[in-house]
Amino acid sequence: MTTYLDNAASTRMDDRVVDAMLPYLKEKYGNPSSAHKQGKALKVSIEDARETIADFFGTKPKEIFFTSGGTESNNFAIKGCAFSSDGKFHGITSSIEHPAVLETYNYICKFGFEADVVKPDSLGMINPSSIENRINDKTRLVSVMHANNEIGNINDVKAISEICRTRGILFHSDTVQSIGKMDVKPKELGIDFLTLSAHKIYGPKGIGILFIDENVKIDKYIHGGSQERNMRADIDKHVKQRKSGVSHFYISIIIIHLTDKSLKVSFKKPVSKSNGKKSDA
Ligand SMILES: Cc1ncc(COP(=O)(O)O)c(C=O)c1O
Repeated sequence: MTTYLDNAASTRMDDRVVDAMLPYLKEKYGNPSSAHKQGKALKVSIEDARETIADFFGTKPKEIFFTSGGTESNNFAIKGCAFSSDGKFHGITSSIEHPAVLETYNYICKFGFEADVVKPDSLGMINPSSIENRINDKTRLVSVMHANNEIGNINDVKAISEICRTRGILFHSDTVQSIGKMDVKPKELGIDFLTLSAHKIYGPKGIGILFIDENVKIDKYIHGGSQERNMRADIDKHVKQRKSGVSHFYISIIIIHLTDKSLKVSFKKPVSKSNGKKSDA
């Protein structure tokens, strides 16, 4: 028997998620943008899923955008902010972010946008004051992950978001590794952009979410049809049943899975010398 010890990289799909998916892979294969009966029914399913997810996060459905995963959600937030700016854009992130964040900042810098990367302390924590020290007149966005995918430390995103709020700066957090292990409510944590990936939480690969606060306006990410309230086009996915697949419909099941307390894992916080907080461990 082999033992799989890499759940932070990807999880086995929950049987209930697989069961919820099957009808959409077999019978309900239409295009939700179609005007016929099946298309319309699929559209209703998508909006039901969006509502369930919004309930879970304590947000409005219109703040939930379906994407192809955590990588795309991070790209969407960062590029969307930079390219919707007046050209004066400075972002701040940390050196312990996933490449989906770090490489996106590297990329936008080729267009004349600017970014600073702060280092963690000796425990791997991002000190809120190290973010504050890098803020300048052009700073529009700060991206700091909630839980780190390699060392598991949990950043004090609330303290960082409060600094951002008082300075009129948007705050983005990659919560791919904390969702399912902790209570993550974007409004309570002061997060303007929140990233989720389904395959880290017993769902399928190729589906993710970007929460965007309703007061924040950024550029459209994928150009084409008017799906996702004209912010992310992708008419093909339901037809081709490829990566992003029909997963829009069953992600609500994943969320239901997450709310099932018996399946939640306990999570131990590391002791941080920098903020003096005690560990729960
Ligand atoms: C912290 C973090 N962000 C983003 C991603 C990328 O997510 P996805 O595989 O859904 O693109 C991962 C996956 O390893 C991750 O751990």
